Order: sequence, then structure tokens, then C-alpha cells
Amino acid sequence: MLKTRSIALFAFLFTYLNATLLCRAAIGDKAAATFKILNGTATFEQVTEDTFSIYGVLNKGIDENDPDIYFIDLNGDTLSFAEYNISIDPPKAGPWNATTNGNIDELIGTYIAILYDENTIDDSFIVKE
Ligand SMILES: *[C@@H]1O[C@H](CO)[C@@H](O)[C@H](O)[C@H]1NC(C)=O
Ligand SMILES: *[C@@H]1O[C@H](CO)[C@@H](O)[C@H](O)[C@H]1NC(C)=O
Ligand SMILES: *[C@@H]1O[C@H](CO)[C@@H](O)[C@H](O)[C@H]1NC(C)=O
Repeated sequence: MLKTRSIALFAFLFTYLNATLLCRAAIGDKAAATFKILNGTATFEQVTEDTFSIYGVLNKGIDENDPDIYFIDLNGDTLSFAEYNISIDPPKAGPWNATTNGNIDELIGTYIAILYDENTIDDSFIVKE
């Protein structure tokens, strides 16, 4: 009985620590995705406990001035540049800044792709900096 209880306690502690200590970015922590083909980056910085900023720019390969035909696939959720309010100045897109709620540790390892129409033109994974 004692054994079962300590296993349960261990499982609880493990989950708790994982959720609070290991998977929370501290203020000032950064993460980034690099786009090689489009010569771009997206960087994420934890600015308060619950919000992070995003800064993104693509320096080449965005040849059409139409934010409705370029898309960002973030882990399966696809939104157009227009929906993200990202401006295009061919061959560049951005720079683009935003602040949103969340913790950047939840983004680590996330797949991110840039699409032109339905074709992926570059992709990357978000890594801790
Ligand atoms: C990537 O973009 C930066 C900023 O515009 C520029 O300085 C650099 O030369 C570019 N690199 C390539 C390989 O195009
Ligand atoms: C989109 O960007 C423009 C220009 O920076 C700004 O005026 C507008 O409020 C933004 N819209 C949204 C939905 O963020
Ligand atoms: C966007 O964020 C970057 C990095 O945090 C900052 O240097 C830059 O001034 C910001 N630009 C705008 C337009 O807010």
C-alpha cells in the first residue's frame, strides 16, 4: 500500500514539476525559427509571465504583393499573411511584430511552414535560443 502511494506521489510530483518548472519559459527567454530559402527568421521572446512577442521577417522569395496567397502553417493551423497582418514588399515580407498570450516553451519543437498558394516554399522548427 505504501508503495502504491509513493508511486502516485511520484507521478504527481513529476507531472507537477514538468508543468511548472520545466515547461515554463522565464521572462527574457527566446526561441526562434530560421527560414533558409526565404532568408528569414521568426523570433519569440517571453516578455511577461503570460505574454510573448513575435518578430518576423522574410528577406527574399516573396515575389507577389498579395498577402492573401501566402500562408503560415503553424503546427497544422494555416492562416494567410493578410490574416496575420503581415505586409509584403517584394521580395520581402515584414518585418512583423506582434505580442500574444502564452508561454514560448510550448512552441519549442513546433513545425512552421511558409506556403505560397498550396505549396510549401520553406519550413522550419522552432528551437530554443
Ligand atoms: C539575407 O537578408 C539579409 C538582410 O536583408 C541580407 O543582409 C543578407 O545578405 C541576406 N542573405 C542572403 C543569403 O540572401
Ligand atoms: C495591421 O497593421 C496596420 C498597420 O501597421 C495597423 O494599422 C492595423 O491596426 C493592423 N491590424 C490588425 C488586425 O492588427
Ligand atoms: C519589433 O521587435 C523588434 C525586436 O523586439 C524591435 O527591435 C523592433 O523595434 C520592433 N519593431 C516594431 C515596428 O515594433
